[in-house]
Amino acid sequence: MIDLHCHLLPGVDDGAPDLETALDLARLAVDNGITHAVLTPHVHPGRYENTLVSLSPVFESFVAAVSEADIALELALAGEVRVSPEILPMIADGEVPFLGEWQGKPVVLLELPHSHIPPGSDKLVAWLAARDIQPMIAHPERNKDVMRNYDKIEPFIEAGCLFQVTAMSVAGAFGEGAHRRALELLDAGVVTVLASDAHNSKHRPPALEAGRLAAAERVGEAESWQLVRDRPGLLAQSKFTDSAIPSVA
Ligand SMILES: [Fe+2]
Repeated sequence: MIDLHCHLLPGVDDGAPDLETALDLARLAVDNGITHAVLTPHVHPGRYENTLVSLSPVFESFVAAVSEADIALELALAGEVRVSPEILPMIADGEVPFLGEWQGKPVVLLELPHSHIPPGSDKLVAWLAARDIQPMIAHPERNKDVMRNYDKIEPFIEAGCLFQVTAMSVAGAFGEGAHRRALELLDAGVVTVLASDAHNSKHRPPALEAGRLAAAERVGEAESWQLVRDRPGLLAQSKFTDSAIPSVA
């Protein structure tokens, strides 16, 4: 399986705090059946001042450490970009690492705050579209506005966004509200990928299998593999030039 959203890169956000923990998380990911992981540290001006330039050396040394530790996990670097006015110039200046490509367009993983959908989010999506950048909304099922009212996600669907739902939401580990919305989004056929959004081993583990199994019960075995292997593989293909992604069905 291919995980497009996780916080394994050590010491750069609220994910793995140090190398040892990060290596443990990488081992857990492999045990769960994950072969490729795109690391997506928070890019959140004012909170996590990460950029492509600042993250790249940390990523390179983590790749070396994972290889040294003989962990069979292929890695790539992207970011989870918080919706805010400050990210516009960052994206325009190439300071934000993209998640991959979708239908020839670079994909940016966008994070809404959990509490609400900020006014102007629709304008940001339109701004990206005008620049041929494809937005993917991270875990919409965990946003409180969306939990209260499913219709709040409609403008993002209509604007052509991709959607990443968190695997453990589908499995029910983030409460009934997120569980219900995750299943509704699956039913609506708008979920592009499931990803782990792993932060730690306890509450937010690098795990996709439980979510895939729960999704299989809802939308069938074939679509469950699209969610964790085929579509993330297609999307991240350009990130793994040295390490072939398992063949896409
Ligand atoms: Fe995340």
